[in-house]
Amino acid sequence: MCGIVGGIAQRNVVPILLEGLKRLEYRGYDSAGLAVINNFELYRKRELGKVKELEALLHADPISGTIGIAHTRWATHGKPSTANAHPHVSGNKIAVVHNGIIENYEQLKTAQLAQGHEFTSQTDTEVIVHEVFNALQGANNLLDAVKHTVRKLEGAYALGIVNADEPDVLVACRKGSPLVIGVGIGEYFIASDVAALLPVTQRFIFLQEGDVAALHLDSVEIYDALDQVANRPIIESQLSPDAVDKGNYRHYMLKEIHEQPFAIAQTLEGRFINNRLQENSFGHNASEVFDNIKAVQILACGTSYHAGLVARYWFEELARVPCQVEVASEFRYRKPVLAADTLIVTISQSGETADTLAALQEAKKLGAKYSLTICNVPESSLVRESDLVLMTRAGPEIGVASTKAFTTQLATLMLLVIAVGRRFHLTGQTEQKMTAQLFRLPGEIEKVLQLNGAIKRLSEQFAEKQHALFLGRGAHYPIAMEGALKLKEISYIHAEAYPAGELKHGPLALIDADMPVITVAPNNSLLEKLKSNMQEVSARGGQLIVFMDETLVPVAEGNIQIIKVPQVENEISPILYTIPLQLLSYHVAVLKGTDVDQPRNLAKSVTVE
Ligand code: F6R
Repeated sequence: MCGIVGGIAQRNVVPILLEGLKRLEYRGYDSAGLAVINNFELYRKRELGKVKELEALLHADPISGTIGIAHTRWATHGKPSTANAHPHVSGNKIAVVHNGIIENYEQLKTAQLAQGHEFTSQTDTEVIVHEVFNALQGANNLLDAVKHTVRKLEGAYALGIVNADEPDVLVACRKGSPLVIGVGIGEYFIASDVAALLPVTQRFIFLQEGDVAALHLDSVEIYDALDQVANRPIIESQLSPDAVDKGNYRHYMLKEIHEQPFAIAQTLEGRFINNRLQENSFGHNASEVFDNIKAVQILACGTSYHAGLVARYWFEELARVPCQVEVASEFRYRKPVLAADTLIVTISQSGETADTLAALQEAKKLGAKYSLTICNVPESSLVRESDLVLMTRAGPEIGVASTKAFTTQLATLMLLVIAVGRRFHLTGQTEQKMTAQLFRLPGEIEKVLQLNGAIKRLSEQFAEKQHALFLGRGAHYPIAMEGALKLKEISYIHAEAYPAGELKHGPLALIDADMPVITVAPNNSLLEKLKSNMQEVSARGGQLIVFMDETLVPVAEGNIQIIKVPQVENEISPILYTIPLQLLSYHVAVLKGTDVDQPRNLAKSVTVE
C-alpha cells in the first residue's frame, strides 16, 4: 500500500506534499516522510506515526524546496519505524519513495552489500535507491538511470525519485501500483491517487503499466515499457477538493453511515427511464455482452466480497443465473476452471486492490471474454481494465471501514441482477418489484438510521467483551459476515459469523453468558429455522442480541435483547440490516477508544498482495 506524493514547482512544495499525504493517509499511516532539494542539497524529514507527527516535526524544524517527494507508509518489509520510513536515500543525493513490493530485493541487496552499500533500513525499497545510485555512475542523467534500474526490478512499484544534482527533474514510474501525474500551470505533481492533488489541479495524466516519466517545470516526457515516447491524454477529474471534508461528524465513518440514503439515490440516478433500467448504464455494448453470457463469476476481497456473496443469492434465487463468488486472492492462484461465456464481475471500492486486479488478469488469461467492474473510483485501474463498468457513486469513502461503499455496491449489484436476469428467468413482475424496492431504499435507510440512539445504548454492553458471534441465514448470512468484519476491524473485538444452521456443528461449544450472539432476523421464509437456532443459544445461557423485523414477536426466552428493524421487502432486506450492524460496530469502537477511521495495522486501499 502506502501513498506517494511529489512535485516540481516555482513555489515551496512542502505544504502541497503535506496536504497530499493527509489525503493519502487512507493508504497507510504508520510513518511518514518527505525530501526536498534546495540549492543542490537534499533535505529529508521522517517521523513514526501519522502525517500530523511529521507536520509537527516540520513545524519545529522547517525545510523547504521547489522539488520534492513524500510518502505515508503501511509497513510490508520492516516494522513501522523512523528508519524504515520513506524517502530512502543513497549517497546523500538520491531519494526514492515507493509504493509496492520488490520481490527480488534480497538478491539485489546481496549484490549491493558486496559493492559496499550500507543499508539503514529493513525495507525492500532501499535496494531501489542504491540501484539508481549505481546506474547513475554510467548514465547521462536521472531519467536514464531510472530506466536502467526498473529493468532490474521484479514485483510492483510506483516510484518518485529525485537527485540533488538535478533539481530540475522529478522522475516517476509505475508497474503494478497506481500513479498519476497532476498537471498544473508551470508545475507538475505525482500522486498515488488524484484525491491527493485536487487542491492544486484537476487535470491528470494516468501513467500506464511500465511507463517512466520525467517531470520538469514546464513539460513532461513519458516513455512506455518499450522505451518509446508515449502520448498520454490529460483527463479532467470531476472530483471537488472538499469532497473529503468530515463536516460536523466526529468521525468519517459516522458521516459515511449517514450518507447512505443520498449515496444510494446517486447510485440509481439517471439509470432508469420510465422505471426501466437502461442497460447502457453499464457501457455502450453492455446489452450485447449480457446477451452472450451464461454464468457469472464474482471476484472481490473483504467487504466487497461480502457484497458479492449477497448478490449470489439474488442471481440464483431471483433469476436462476449460475453465479460463483470467490475471494480474489484465492482465485488468482487456484488454477480455476472457467465455464465458457462467463461474465467476470469484480467488485472494489478503490479499484486498486492488487488481488482483485490480479484475479481479473488471471481470468482473462484463462480465456474470459467479458469483464465488468463495480467500483467507486472512476479513474482506478479496475475501471480501466474492465470492458463494462458500473460506478457505485458512493462519493469518496475515507473511513477505512467500508460502509456506504458496501451498500451502494449492493444496490449496484441489484441493477446487474436485473440486467442479466432478464436473459434468464427474472420475471417482469420481479423486476418491477426490485425496481420499486430500490427506489424506496433511501427512505427505508433513513428510518433505520433512527435506531442510532438505541444501538448506542446497546453498545455499552460490548465494551468489555472479548468475542462475539454473528448469525444469519440465506442472503443475511453475508450480512452477518460483514457485521463481524466491521466489529473486529474497528473495535478489535474478535468476531466470527456463521450461517445459523452451522451453530450445532461446533461453534455452540463457545456459548456462555460472556458470548454475545448477534442475530439478523428478518421476517422471511427462513425465520422458523432461525428461531430454532436462537433457542439453541438461549438454552445454553447465551446472550442473544437480535436485530428483528418490527412485526415479529420475541422468539426466545432468557437473556435476549431486541432491536426492532422497520419492516421491508425481502429483496432489499440485506441492505437494510447492514445499517444497524455498522452503527453497532461504530459505537462499540468509540466506547473502546480505538481509532475508528484509521484502525491499527490496516489501510484503505490494499495495493499489495
Ligand atoms: C473492510 C474493508 C476491506 C475492503 C477490502 C477490499 O471494511 O473495507 O475489507 O473491502 O480491502 O477493498 P476494495 O473494495 O477497495 O477492493
